[in-house]
Amino acid sequence: CGIVGYVGSQQSEGAVIEGLRRMEYRGYDSAGIAVVADGTLTVRKKAGKLANLDKVISEEPLPASTTGIGHTRWATHGGPSDHNAHPHLGATGRVALVHNGIIENFAELRAQLEADGHILVSETDTEVAVHLLEAAVVAGADLTTAMQDVCRRLEGAFTFVAVDAQDPSRIVGARRNSPLVVGLGDGENFLGSDVAAFIEHTRDALELGQDQVVTITASDVAVTGFDGTPSEGRRYHVDWDLSAAQKDGHDWFMRKEIHEQPRAVADALLGRRGVDGRLQLDEMRLSDQELRDIDKIIIIAAGTSFYAGMVAKYAIEHWCRIPVEVELSSEFRYRDPIVDYSTLVVAISQSGETADTLQAIRHARAQRSKVLAICNTNGSTIPRESDAVIYMHAGPEIGVASTKGYVTQLVACYLLALYLAQVKGTRYGDEITQVVEQLEAIPAQIEKVLAKAEDIYRLARHHVDSRSFLFLGRHAGYPVALEGALKLKELAYLHAEGFAAGELKHGPIALVEPGLPVLCIVPPRGRDQLHDKMLSGIQEVRARGAHTIVLAEEGDDRIAPYADELVTLPRVPVLLQPLVAVIPLQLFACELASAMGHDVDQPRNLAKSVTVE
Ligand code: G6P
Repeated sequence: CGIVGYVGSQQSEGAVIEGLRRMEYRGYDSAGIAVVADGTLTVRKKAGKLANLDKVISEEPLPASTTGIGHTRWATHGGPSDHNAHPHLGATGRVALVHNGIIENFAELRAQLEADGHILVSETDTEVAVHLLEAAVVAGADLTTAMQDVCRRLEGAFTFVAVDAQDPSRIVGARRNSPLVVGLGDGENFLGSDVAAFIEHTRDALELGQDQVVTITASDVAVTGFDGTPSEGRRYHVDWDLSAAQKDGHDWFMRKEIHEQPRAVADALLGRRGVDGRLQLDEMRLSDQELRDIDKIIIIAAGTSFYAGMVAKYAIEHWCRIPVEVELSSEFRYRDPIVDYSTLVVAISQSGETADTLQAIRHARAQRSKVLAICNTNGSTIPRESDAVIYMHAGPEIGVASTKGYVTQLVACYLLALYLAQVKGTRYGDEITQVVEQLEAIPAQIEKVLAKAEDIYRLARHHVDSRSFLFLGRHAGYPVALEGALKLKELAYLHAEGFAAGELKHGPIALVEPGLPVLCIVPPRGRDQLHDKMLSGIQEVRARGAHTIVLAEEGDDRIAPYADELVTLPRVPVLLQPLVAVIPLQLFACELASAMGHDVDQPRNLAKSVTVE
């Protein structure tokens, strides 16, 4: 998750370890370093925190060296262990590589390498990349050319940084869909996944573009495309301090994570389409027959994850025709639930450690039901105790209030629903492919919402004195209303409630008084009944003096008379609308809380992962 490279006149060990330490905020569960001295590579790596790596190095010191690379890994494929930690070495130990990202076509490349006699010892995609890279170097290419050749053969998202033991003067990096920046020093140069890696040494940086390879020496930086054509990165001066640098210039981690959502959704979708076009979920350890035998699904989760589960119910029931219940983890086992071997329990947990959810899956397994975890943290307890896992690939989430965790949970839920439909034959291949393509379009649509963040911030600041908010939605917009209200409660400590718009008239409408801000999520057109019913609901609150903030899709020309404030959303199918509709609500809560002077990243009384029942 954090990458550092150093070449210059100082001891690389110090610069690399220091860079890793400054990137600790990104979250990681193992760390490693490789330095070059006298034509050989020396690697030290260790699971756990940097203190563990420090201990290994103090027991087995590294040789003096001015060229080194380092990595902090946040496990995605393969649990956090010494063995899986980076750097990885090629077959002869001549090239070392650190890698972030996922190489989608690694299975084919691995088969080719094995046919050529390579012995691969791990299941990781990184090992495939380093073997390819080293094979090219051994065949006579310099490390830069070898990197270009290898990158052209890869699909997916990756940042690489590599060194060749026989060419200590250079470090080579590459990037596609994953960040890498160069730190420009005086007689020394750096590579980092972000500027925090080198900000103590230099504030002059060069940002690499998509599909570029960079070669740094102590005195020079050269950038090319994957085809070898010389290119330029974007030079800039970093005027933030270290803490802002860690947040990419944002004031809060939460704001940074909100803006990372396009990337997070794209990552959550990576590698899910097999060569035959069928959906594949590689951590799905339940057989097709076991999945076909399922006659009921119970989703259990807490907090924001519970609201993702509510959306999942709409999707699974619609696409797969299997009945789904959604239950709070803390309630599940105490009500003597009816579960058996034909029930699939789906546990949704960003952290994978929430005690309520963990106890609930233990109870479900004791009743012989199958448990599938949707989780962000590889190697955490809930996925370890489950029969199957779908990882969210959101990357570490630091803000206590979940944002990119929520949207990637939704993506994982949609993938599960489509996969079940594929296995059970309730939907055909073309229909499934169409939804996957709609999902693949979501990152660009989230970008469109984020481009209007300033408008939403203005709106939020305008409401800084409001003390109560309602959120209304219907269908998949209903859980979004609940999530929007939860965000405001968590961050701004304000009374905020979400309701199903149709339920309003049965009670909550008594809360409406003149000036009360009501945020309304309008379903897309095309589902006309739903759309019309939502408009009636909005009218009911407006008639009683509420101030309506309406989220509706662009081009919805009937909405204007209902909206005191209008926030437009990109056009997406109704079931996928939560992915775009939640974004303005996150921005709204973040800005409002910030304007009120609250600590957005660590709201009072809350913890990121609640390990007590
Ligand atoms: C805590 C957090 C919430 C989170 C919930 C579930 O209460 O403050 O933001 O939604 O736990 O967490 P999980 O890791 O299980 O998704």
